[in-house]
Amino acid sequence: MALVNLIGLMDHARRNKYGVGAFNVPDYETFQAILDTAVAKQSPVIIDVAEVHLKYIDLDDVAYVVKRAAERAPVPVALHLDHGEHFETIIRAVRAGFSSIMFDGSHLPFEENVRQTAEIVRICHACGVSVEAELGQVLGGEGTSERFEADPSVFTDPDEAVEFCARTNIDLLAISFGTAHGLYRGTPKLDFDRLDAIATRTKKPVVLHGGTGVSDEDFRKAVSLGITKINYYTQTSVTAVEATREILAANPDLVSYPLLLQQTREAIKKVLAHQMDVFGSAGICARFPDICIECDACTVPNVSLDGVADTGGHAYQHAPASAPADRSDKLTDDDVQTLIDAVTRAVLKGLNDA
Ligand code: 13P
Repeated sequence: MALVNLIGLMDHARRNKYGVGAFNVPDYETFQAILDTAVAKQSPVIIDVAEVHLKYIDLDDVAYVVKRAAERAPVPVALHLDHGEHFETIIRAVRAGFSSIMFDGSHLPFEENVRQTAEIVRICHACGVSVEAELGQVLGGEGTSERFEADPSVFTDPDEAVEFCARTNIDLLAISFGTAHGLYRGTPKLDFDRLDAIATRTKKPVVLHGGTGVSDEDFRKAVSLGITKINYYTQTSVTAVEATREILAANPDLVSYPLLLQQTREAIKKVLAHQMDVFGSAGICARFPDICIECDACTVPNVSLDGVADTGGHAYQHAPASAPADRSDKLTDDDVQTLIDAVTRAVLKGLNDA
């Protein structure tokens, strides 16, 4: 099937109380490990490509590979831009065929975060691309040996969250409630009351960033209170590096690079399989076979960058026909004009040379 965006999938996850792992892909081995595990576990999956990882992996190339793989995968696959901070990167991702993006304006003052997020939402929705945004700040840094902890002074405020969702029309809200990116200093203490208030009052699918180091028990509780997307990366990287060290120590004569990668991939798959069990996404495709059926009910036309609707049959599919669609499936003249303006601006800023 074609890539799915996150609107229907997250709605399904919210109604059925499971979380979907959004696993970062800075390289193709990790991607293969993630997809293999999702298929083996009959789990929907989100392939997260972080803007900061574009120094390791090419945006257009990874989009091409993931789209092709998703077409053949028997589970729903979303391709999501993680922590998109620059307008140009987001437009490039939409153009490359990402089905979902995150705009991270969490460092901006509230009003500016609202303004920029709303603009991105308008453009992305016109293209059938779902949008996640962050309010409050999840601190830390992924993939390093440094240790971090959450800072309650930048936790998400529930009142602001309600206003933010209403004024931006986002599809998913990333919040700060005790997690941090990367390795933790000490044990993370999650503010479940805050999560509960935000999920209940905004009625939006809520995203947990900084999954590495959160206990199984805390993940289960977070999912029961409304977390539907769980971002998870650092432990995947740590596992791959540690496995590589062990394999080379045990086999000093090894010179086969693909054999090394294959064994490393197996180590990553074990970690991911465990997380899919804990998040509750394992077995979802068997329990709900219609989750991935092409239903047309909530199809959004894919739009090429010159603003012309592409009727070539590439439609993002999401939840079953009964799932409520959050927005119109028709492009207005304004939507098309917004898209044209956006692309023109991106091109003028030297997009192709970026
Ligand atoms: P961890 O690296 O802490 O698992 O967090 C990943 C993440 O939140 C990506 O956005």
